Amino acid sequence: MVLKPFVDALPVPRVLKPKDKNRDRTYYEVEMREFFHKFHRDLPPTKVWGYEGQIPGPTFEVDQFEKVHVLWKNKLPDKHILPVDRTLHGCGEHDPEVRTVVHLHGANVEPESDGYPDAWFTQDFEKCGPRFFRKVYKYDNFQEPTTLWYHDHAIGITRLNVYAGLAGLYIIRNEHERLLNLPSGVYEIPLVIQDKSFNPDGSLFYPSTVDVQNPPPDFPDVSVTPGFTGNTIVVNGKAWPYLEVERRKYRFRILNASNQRFYRLSLDSGQQFIQIGSDGGLMQRPVKLDEIIIAPSERVDVVVDFSGQKTGCKINLVNTARTPFDFGEPPDPLTTGLIMQFRVIERTSEDTSTVPEFLTKIKRYNEDDAYRMRDITLDVTNDMYNRLLFLLNNRDYYGGITEEPGVDEVEIWRFVNPGLAFHPMHVHQVQFQVLDRIPFDVNEYVATGRIRYTGEPEDPPANERGWKDTVQCAPGHVTRIIAKFGPFTGRYVYHCHILEHEDHDMMRPFDVVAKLDPCNRKKCDCRGK
Ligand code: C2O
Ligand code: CU
Ligand code: CU
Repeated sequence: MVLKPFVDALPVPRVLKPKDKNRDRTYYEVEMREFFHKFHRDLPPTKVWGYEGQIPGPTFEVDQFEKVHVLWKNKLPDKHILPVDRTLHGCGEHDPEVRTVVHLHGANVEPESDGYPDAWFTQDFEKCGPRFFRKVYKYDNFQEPTTLWYHDHAIGITRLNVYAGLAGLYIIRNEHERLLNLPSGVYEIPLVIQDKSFNPDGSLFYPSTVDVQNPPPDFPDVSVTPGFTGNTIVVNGKAWPYLEVERRKYRFRILNASNQRFYRLSLDSGQQFIQIGSDGGLMQRPVKLDEIIIAPSERVDVVVDFSGQKTGCKINLVNTARTPFDFGEPPDPLTTGLIMQFRVIERTSEDTSTVPEFLTKIKRYNEDDAYRMRDITLDVTNDMYNRLLFLLNNRDYYGGITEEPGVDEVEIWRFVNPGLAFHPMHVHQVQFQVLDRIPFDVNEYVATGRIRYTGEPEDPPANERGWKDTVQCAPGHVTRIIAKFGPFTGRYVYHCHILEHEDHDMMRPFDVVAKLDPCNRKKCDCRGK
């Protein structure tokens, strides 16, 4: 069925109300439930999973430094609505089919509240994973005001749980940001972009098998694919919605919550975006852009000014990114090339909002402050079933700890990508900064394992100079990031945020460890240069 674009109005997820609030903490309860959701006027209701029976989940609105406690309750059935691949890590025959654990993406929280993939739980906590720690999660919010998002992170089925609908927004605000007088209230709108496919009866389509060459006789009936892309673009839970906008400035908090799809966003009116924030907070200065490339799990905070447009005018938000990014299929301009439509109407009042030339101070880390540099290689191989297998440093998820940054220490991580595709690499606990991308000789690397740079370091573009928790790792490049770990010690993960990669096996645990005796700890002076 071909769905008609721009027939449903853009919904805005409602703000979640706390169960209880006192001086010490704000307490929420959030239930994961199975229910039916209308993705499009002409589509029958779709069975989905969502937080509080909503797609996307309700939005948290919290203040910087507010102490937030959340009881995440699993009220889902014990049968999955999507095909579970039993050959993946953590999905063996003794593991329950439906498991959940919630991660607040981009937040700096204690490990016990981070939603470690093995800290899963089933309905009413009946069964818990091997690293289950606590029921009520604690978020301290001692970070820059920004757009975070919460989503499921259960081992081996994250791609299915997020695709089923388990994702929502979490916004941190503070006084400094309020005083900037950016567009706010009804003029500040989140846009959660996902791609889905539907069966004719309205149910969610997710592939249950994959083509491989020479499959072994025990090839699984249900298999993970190297990456899912849907044929329908959904914003805030509606397929190709429209939004009436007044002739004035709007702030859009854009999240790419898709499994694999990158988007190259632009407005077909030729207007520019004014990007004011990245994953982890406001940028130092606004950046004007014709196009924005947003990878899975990244957020971009933009202002769009419709005041120069005529009433009645229709402006499409479009996508030109290929999938897999950026060498695969180009999007179809009539379907996956469309995201949503803005319809300009008259202003109801004066637009007094502003976009100040200076937003916030961002202190750049100094490369000389780094204690050490680590290499993380993004590897492609085949698994025992001959399926494509993506790994980090050629180890799988259960392959032991190899990264142990010291608490409060600054490190440089080099993501080495000898493959063909971009991978959005995400590190838990920290907001980091992008140092540069440096081209290297892939053939020499594959033959000898040595990294020889073939060109000058490319500085990150202006809109990547703010706080980031996910970085687009370009093929044939070493992408260098710099981060300060802490203040918590303990176990976290880093991974590719293409969800099919993360589930199979492009995710690794790491430990933030107590500081060693400074005399034993040698400062590295190579810093990857
Ligand atoms: Cu948004 Cu570890 O993930
Ligand atoms: Cu995360
Ligand atoms: Cu990947």
